[in-house]
Amino acid sequence: MENKKKHWENIYQTKELKDVSWYQAKPTTSLEFLEEFNVAKSAKIIDVGGGDSFFVDHLIELGYSDITVLDISETALERAKMRLGEKASAVKWIVADAAKFIPTEKYDFWHDRAAFHFLTEETEIKNYIDTIKNYLNLNGVLVVGTFSETGPTKCSGIEIKQYSEVSISERLSQFFKKIKCVTVDHQTPFNTIQNFIFCSFKKISTSI
Ligand SMILES: C[S@@+](CC[C@H](N)C(=O)[O-])C[C@H]1O[C@@H](n2cnc3c(N)ncnc32)[C@H](O)[C@@H]1O
Repeated sequence: MENKKKHWENIYQTKELKDVSWYQAKPTTSLEFLEEFNVAKSAKIIDVGGGDSFFVDHLIELGYSDITVLDISETALERAKMRLGEKASAVKWIVADAAKFIPTEKYDFWHDRAAFHFLTEETEIKNYIDTIKNYLNLNGVLVVGTFSETGPTKCSGIEIKQYSEVSISERLSQFFKKIKCVTVDHQTPFNTIQNFIFCSFKKISTSI
């Protein structure tokens, strides 16, 4: 955790919003999934590895009232809070490693854009999936976006794990039913393209 945390604190301390490849003024794909599932405004929503992304701004704007943003980098969350000003107080902010995080509540909508793929060790992946399994309500929705098998192999200088529709669905199939996957070409602020796979799942069972 220490090295990883240092890495991400350093990124957010040294790079401006638009100096990072994942910058997106509007997280269109994530918002489309939210709309497709007709997520209630009172739903408990968590954005894991949310950093200082604009997803939270859009959630607030859309009237969502129970939002949590988690990131390993405190600096990232401080930046998001600064941007949001007074609105930040309506959001729960958690500094934690997703692979070790133990939630204190259950969620209805779990969003992860480009954080899951940084978990490359089997124990980290398993812990994180177990956490989602245990803290996503039954029929709750998981939306996860990672680099695809034709996407980059690294992000911000560190190795990531690529997924395909098949590999991510298989990985999650014990407790989650795949609803839909889309591939998306993300245009970075440097005018390069990164191919993502975004999939939605419903939590089906915790009985095993
Ligand atoms: C590529 S950025 C994506 C940020 C945001 N989700 C977005 O779409 O703009 C990855 C984010 O995941 C966070 N992150 C990386 N590893 C993490 C971990 N193990 N636990 C929690 N957050 C992590 C980083 O600090 C960073 O904010």
